Amino acid sequence: GAPAKVDVSKIEPGAMLTAEWRGKPVYIARRTEEALATLPALNDRLKDPENSVKDQQPAYADNINRSRKPELIVLLGVCTHLGCAPKYFAEVKPEPFDADWKGGWFCPCHGSRFDLSGRVFNGSPASTNLVVPPYSYESENVVIIG
Ligand code: FES
Repeated sequence: GAPAKVDVSKIEPGAMLTAEWRGKPVYIARRTEEALATLPALNDRLKDPENSVKDQQPAYADNINRSRKPELIVLLGVCTHLGCAPKYFAEVKPEPFDADWKGGWFCPCHGSRFDLSGRVFNGSPASTNLVVPPYSYESENVVIIG
């Protein structure tokens, strides 16, 4: 399929947009400094905090932010359990929530939770982190997916 070109200039800090690539939703979220700072403390709550499953992200996103630039995360909007579309929660979490969850994605189908890097929480039926598709920056505000 053709690459998708996405203007990310309008994504406010804390917000997310949904693009499409190869018929699948692609979530692009702009994380705040505060949100990024919460990530390291979550490691012992996660199934794969260090991206050991290498297929889930390109090498350039094999870092704690799971991204090329720290603030912008690009993820396939496809739950790694059975393929539902996880919902984004920048701050407000659905009940019952766990105070350690600092936001991210919650899958309404069977309750998998992911952090703001798309890393899967312990206790989720999903076992791998959300997939980071291949992408690059054409310019400061234009991302090419694929
Ligand atoms: Fe997401 Fe089952 S498809 S938790």
